[in-house]
Parts: sequence; C-alpha cells; structure tokens
Amino acid sequence: MDAIANAGGERPAIGFDPLSAEYLADPYPFLAAAAAKPAFYCQSIDHWVVTRYRDIRHIFRTPALFSAANANSPLRPPCPMAVKALAEGGFKSVPTLANVDPPAHTRVRKIANVAFTPKRVAEMESFVRELTVKFCDERLRDGHADMVRDFAWALPALVLFRILGVPDVEVPRVKEGSWSRILFIYGQPPESEQVRAAEGLAAFWRLAENLVRDRMTNPRQDFVSDLVKAKDSEGKGLATEQAATIVLNLLFAGHETTTGLLGNAFRRLLADRDSWQAICRDRRLIPGAIEEILRLDTSVIAWRRRTTQQVDIGGVAIPQEAKLLLLLGAANRDPSVFPDPDRLDIRRANAREHLSFGAGPHLCLGAPLARLQGKVVLEEVSARLPDLRLVPGVTLEFAPNVSFRGPLSLPVEWGPSPARSAH
Ligand code: HEM
Repeated sequence: MDAIANAGGERPAIGFDPLSAEYLADPYPFLAAAAAKPAFYCQSIDHWVVTRYRDIRHIFRTPALFSAANANSPLRPPCPMAVKALAEGGFKSVPTLANVDPPAHTRVRKIANVAFTPKRVAEMESFVRELTVKFCDERLRDGHADMVRDFAWALPALVLFRILGVPDVEVPRVKEGSWSRILFIYGQPPESEQVRAAEGLAAFWRLAENLVRDRMTNPRQDFVSDLVKAKDSEGKGLATEQAATIVLNLLFAGHETTTGLLGNAFRRLLADRDSWQAICRDRRLIPGAIEEILRLDTSVIAWRRRTTQQVDIGGVAIPQEAKLLLLLGAANRDPSVFPDPDRLDIRRANAREHLSFGAGPHLCLGAPLARLQGKVVLEEVSARLPDLRLVPGVTLEFAPNVSFRGPLSLPVEWGPSPARSAH
C-alpha cells in the first residue's frame, strides 16, 4: 500500500501494478489506496487508471469521448513471434461488438439482441436447474470437493453451449482457449508464453469460425444459427468473420465471468456464516446476495476504454488517445455510493447499482444469464449442504491478468469436520 501512497498527490502514482503477485492475491487494499486520486497514469501497463464510480459510469455512457476500441486488445503490443503465430493460425477476428462504438455497435448489438432474447434466457432456467442438480449429485459427494474445479469451472460453459449449440465434449478445448485469451489479451506474459497463448487463441478462433461456417450450411435450433441469419433493419446480415468474432467472444465472456462469479460467491458467503445461514434459511435473499457479491468481489474487476480527445477526469487532464483502465472493483466500493463498502451486506438496498456489468450501450449482454445461474446454483447448493464450509488455511490463486477475477480453486467440506471426527 505504501507504494501507491502518493496516489492522492500531484504526481501520477507509481508502483500501482495490477499484475503484481500482491495485487492479484488481494487487490482491494490497492484499489482503496488508488481511489485517493480520481485518475492517474500507471507506467507498468501504460494505461491511465480511473477509480471513482461516477467517473466510470460517465465514461461507459459517453462513447463519443471514450471509445471501446481497445476493450479486447492486448494490454501491451504482443511480440512479433506472437503476432506471426496468430496470423499463421488463421486468427481473423474483426472489431465487432464489445470493441466498436456507435453507430456500428448499435447495428451489431441489435442483431445480437435478436439472437439472444430474454425469452431464450428465461427458458434456460429448467436446464440450469437440471444441470446444477446433476452436478450436486455427481460432484458434491464424500464430504469434500473443489467448488471451482469440480463445479463452477464447467457448469457455466455447459449452459452456454446449450444456447450456442456447441457439443459438451468441447469444454476442455474452450476452457483452454479462454485461458490463452486471458493471458494474451488481459495479461502480460513473457515472450515465450505469448507465443503459446497466441497459438491457443488462434485454435480458439478456428473453433468459433468452424461453428459459424457449419451453421451457415446446416442451420439448427441454436444461437449460432439465428446469428448467421439475423438481419438488421436494412436487411443486412453479419459477415462470416463478424459472426465468428461474436461467437468467439461469447465462448469466452459467456462462461469465464460466471465461473468467477460462482467462485467469488462461495468464497465470500461461506466466509461469512451469518450471510450463508441467512440464505440457507430464506432463499428469497439469494438474488440480493448475488448482486452484493457482484459489487463486493466482481469477476470483472477492470475494463478498458480509450479517449477520443483530451478529457478532464476529476480535475486530472488526460490526453487524447490515452488508454484507460477503469477500476470497476474500486467503483463498486466507492463510499459515496455504497456506505461501509468493504462489508458484505446481502440486504444492501442499492447493491444492484454496481458497475460489474458495465453501463451504457455495451451493458453486458449476458447479465440475465449470469444472474440466473448464480441464483439457481446458490438455491440448490444451500438447500442441500447448509453446513458447507471453506477448508481453512488454503491460499487462493488467481489468473495473472487485469480484468477477470475468481479463485482458480476453492476447496470446501461439509458434514462432521475431519478434526472433530478423529476423536
Ligand atoms: C458475472 C458474469 C459477467 C460479468 C461480470 C460480465 C461483465 C461484462 C462487462 C464489464 C462488459 C463490458 C460492458 C461495457 O463495456 O460497458 C460485458 C460485456 C459483454 N458481456 Fe458480460 N459479463 C458477465 C457474463 C456474461 C455472460 C454470461 C455473457 C454471455 C452469455 C456475456 C456476454 C457479454 C457480451 C457479448 C458483452 C459485449 C456487449 C456489447 O459490447 O454490446 N457476459 N460483460
């Protein structure tokens, strides 16, 4: 924390490093210290960092001044070998949805909305419940499990696959592709790892592209089939590469974030017995608890934008074409919006105002699906295992990147504790 104590001073903060081991292990003390200044330049990642709720919400809602063009770009320019690996692997993703600005974004988003209707999501509830019950029966046995590796890792991917029309056997390949993408785009791996990540990302791209090409000739009852035939108001559809880019983005954003949400939810709720017991007693508290987890420990802790002209953020002049890192994790604990912000309060009246799904034109397309999965999983697990608890003394690990956050593993146990049953 000392390293960023000058965050409130005149000079830009140095030493704020969102990829350092200390930050990844527990970013919240760093975010609290960073929030002493509304914005500052961070040398280690060459981004301007924005910390406060109102500024970040304004940035999300003002695409003319704050472009989303860099939202899915590598944090730093990749090395030439990695660029070559991407090209040779056939990677042809084009700016399409999360990283284009209105009016181009408006057109594509309308098409994505058509193919990803609230009705399609609502219809998923019975499938999500069936799958959750199956996971509980098959994977939560014997008094101990890993709530992330055994449960939260695959479940959201299988839900998403059902919507997209991807076969279940693809879970390991999609998860591997997602890991490559996390490292390559949102991290800063050394050159040797960059090449491997670029190869993984290219393979991930080919999977999405093949899926799109298949549905163009063999349409089925699924999202990808709807997407390739959807038209905008002028009767124009998406180019193959645009459709494949959307599918690729969904094959990443549509499960990795929810795996993080579930991992963070179990971690925080099980560490706070009163909250856990409250949701076990009264499942009506669960939707509010999910919002509070999204606020307190979001699975997308930072997102990116780029300025289109010089701007003023809280009195700090930021140049044109500056890359911005928006600290959603800091905004969600801004005390001027959320009183006593570090406290988990599953009954917090305004928890839903968090910025974890963004805001404005790019507001997360999958938010209803993520919320649905959080609700169903907590309902089923809390009903079956009210004495579920964290295995004590475990050091949690997180993916080395600036945006996506959730424990990679979360050992839990239930029933008589091993120590007690030994006597
Ligand atoms: C807890 C889970 C999730 C979190 C925290 C999350 C977070 C976010 C954030 C921060 C953005 C950027 C918003 C902006 O730029 O204003 C976003 C966009 C997006 N998310 Fe999510 N997301 C989650 C789940 C999902 C799921 C389940 C899907 C798909 C099934 C999804 C699909 C998308 C898409 C397609 C976009 C781009 C929308 C656009 O640019 O118009 N997300 N999400």
